[in-house]
Amino acid sequence: MVKVTYKKITKKFSAKKLKDFFTESFPGKTLSQCQNIIKHSSVIIGAYDKNHLVGIGRALDDEVYAFITDIIVNPNYRGNNIGTKIVKILCSELKKRKIRVIHCSTEKKLIPFYQGVGFKYNKNDITLFLKN
Ligand SMILES: CC(C)(COP(=O)(O)OP(=O)(O)OC[C@H]1O[C@@H](n2cnc3c(N)ncnc32)[C@H](O)[C@@H]1OP(=O)(O)O)[C@@H](O)C(=O)NCCC(=O)NCCS
Repeated sequence: MVKVTYKKITKKFSAKKLKDFFTESFPGKTLSQCQNIIKHSSVIIGAYDKNHLVGIGRALDDEVYAFITDIIVNPNYRGNNIGTKIVKILCSELKKRKIRVIHCSTEKKLIPFYQGVGFKYNKNDITLFLKN
């Protein structure tokens, strides 16, 4: 079992390191997007194997509602409950701030993953989106 530690990623975190994490784990984010993620996310939780960033999860909120996104674990580390732990820490940070509802949007196959951390799924609720 790998030993992983969890800590908040601060506004001073290197965008280049975050970009390297995405490249290894879930490619598609540019350096400028990583700069904006660090600047605008309300909370980012990082999972580390020693100094190596192996998982992240982040939230955006307005102190009433929160949206969690980019819950990502490096492929070599998946299946070790790291994603679950990241979501739990993120949600406990948001609950401290009296956020009323935490939303997330995901693929159908990951519904059990979010249910495992307490999220409710109502078959009548769907997420609509408008792409830019
Ligand atoms: C989704 C993700 C973060 C899960 O991370 P993880 O650390 O491997 O997840 P956990 O070990 O905490 O999984 C806990 C449970 O969630 C479910 N689960 C996790 N990944 C799953 C997957 N890909 N498909 C279906 N169920 C999954 C399983 O029930 C699992 O329990 P089990 O290990 O007893 O089978 C990881 O697979 C990932 O980075 N995927 C690519 C990015 C992504 O799609 N993120 C979600 C964006 S909304």
